[in-house]
Amino acid sequence: MHAIPLLLLLVHLLRPCSAEFTMVMPDSTTLVDAPQTGFSIHARTDPDEQRAVYEIMEATGNSWSSSIPDVCRGRWHGIECMPDSGDTYHVVSLSFGALSEDTAFPTCDAAPRGGATLSSAVLRLPHLRTLFFYRCLVADPQPIPAFLGRLSPTLHSLVLRDNGHIGPIPQELANLTSLQVLDLHGNRLTASIPSSFSSLTNLRLLDLGSNQLAGVIPELNSPFLSVLDLNRNFLHSQIPDSLSKCQSLIKIDLSRNRIMGSIPNSLRSLKDLILLDLSHNSLTSGLPCSLGNGFPALQSLVLKGNDMSSVTIPGDCFTGMSELNTLILSGMGLEGPMPESMGQMPSIRVLHLDDNKLNGSIPQNFRGLDKLRELRLEGNRLVGPIPFARETMWRMGKKLRVSNNLGLCFEMDGGGEGLESMVGISYCDPESAANKGETKNGTGETKRLSSWTGGWQTSSFSTGSSASSVASCFLPALVFAAGVLCAVSL
Ligand SMILES: *[C@@H]1O[C@H](CO)[C@@H](O)[C@H](O)[C@H]1NC(C)=O
Ligand SMILES: *[C@@H]1O[C@H](CO)[C@@H](O)[C@H](O)[C@H]1NC(C)=O
Ligand SMILES: *[C@@H]1O[C@H](CO)[C@@H](O)[C@H](O)[C@H]1NC(C)=O
Repeated sequence: MHAIPLLLLLVHLLRPCSAEFTMVMPDSTTLVDAPQTGFSIHARTDPDEQRAVYEIMEATGNSWSSSIPDVCRGRWHGIECMPDSGDTYHVVSLSFGALSEDTAFPTCDAAPRGGATLSSAVLRLPHLRTLFFYRCLVADPQPIPAFLGRLSPTLHSLVLRDNGHIGPIPQELANLTSLQVLDLHGNRLTASIPSSFSSLTNLRLLDLGSNQLAGVIPELNSPFLSVLDLNRNFLHSQIPDSLSKCQSLIKIDLSRNRIMGSIPNSLRSLKDLILLDLSHNSLTSGLPCSLGNGFPALQSLVLKGNDMSSVTIPGDCFTGMSELNTLILSGMGLEGPMPESMGQMPSIRVLHLDDNKLNGSIPQNFRGLDKLRELRLEGNRLVGPIPFARETMWRMGKKLRVSNNLGLCFEMDGGGEGLESMVGISYCDPESAANKGETKNGTGETKRLSSWTGGWQTSSFSTGSSASSVASCFLPALVFAAGVLCAVSL
């Protein structure tokens, strides 16, 4: 679901980066940094690199390229070159795969012959900065070649996404110490993440999500890492305390693994962290609480589907989480009262606490949560009035879900009219409810309210709404991450 936006961001935001700096090459050839249209018409592609490109293209089923006399001047989508001061073009970026309708990189499934491969000729591109394969080689699943560890030290972006790769991640990739982006998302990679990845100290983005990786989350030592995505694997270690050393983290997604133990307190020191998704794991304790000064930038916290039975939420857990707009704590077995500090989150829009064992009443200060758009409290042990103003109820509409509690009710002056047909909820005072019904006669309002209530009962509640809320946080996070990538001096 996120694949295309992510890729578009990667492509649109990383490519400009690659054209914005001058880099001194290991062989001392300095590439000239300026719009390529401004260069001498005499510039030609380096002949060795040109032969390498022909071989790489041939291996992916694009032998048409061999009829192009000069690959850098041929300028197809998917190849980028930069000239040096001696009017020789060098290949800096190669991209393959049908990314979107308007970004037609060369195809890479070699349909007529089958058996497309990633040619080792990539090793003969000494200026390569980006290698990008998306939905390639799928018809003929193959391991990630270990020779990629010998790619040019200039390489800063390696994307092998949704390619059907099998087998383990080669240890050798850890030799690519200049890597800033490593994206192996959506393959069928097995075994564990190489512990040697701790040497990738320049990483900004590490995405190994949607694979079959098991074992432990390695110690990472990447002060610039802003996006860590390991979701949908079989990782079963604890979350390493050392993750807090990656002080630039903006997004951490470890959801849908088998991660155990507690959530380290040290994570609260991540001052740029916007999204923390640890949902659907086996975490048993340590709700990540702010306690006044932690998680200052956090916008989305998603922990649902971890069984924390008998854990109560500390009263001051959310104090100071002024940016938090999405909090998903469904189905965790949480006990005790809803803390007051939940009613002090000025930015909260989406709050899911359904299917826990929360008891007591909804804190009165929830009345002040004027950004709230979606509240799920169903399936708890809550009692007492729902403390919302009429406008808040109307705004939330079908996204207010409070059924299946011990004794929640609508207050008449809270504007509950028309809500009484909702299953399991009635007015706090039935007699005054009847009075209210009389006074409504003839105002026309009754009709409007009841048609709205009818809509309520027939609407299907989309569980996707929470995902889209998370995504809407997650995209700015990526834009920001990519901004960081552009801003860093390489
Ligand atoms: C690359 O990695 C392998 C395995 O991790 C290692 O044995 C080798 O020495 C490394 N090569 C270089 C050039 O660093
Ligand atoms: C709420 O639950 C907690 C923990 O299970 C319990 O100790 C407490 O007595 C309960 N409070 C009420 C009002 O039921
Ligand atoms: C509401 O109005 C209708 C018709 O105008 C009347 O029959 C009914 O008794 C009224 N309801 C109440 C509760 O007074």
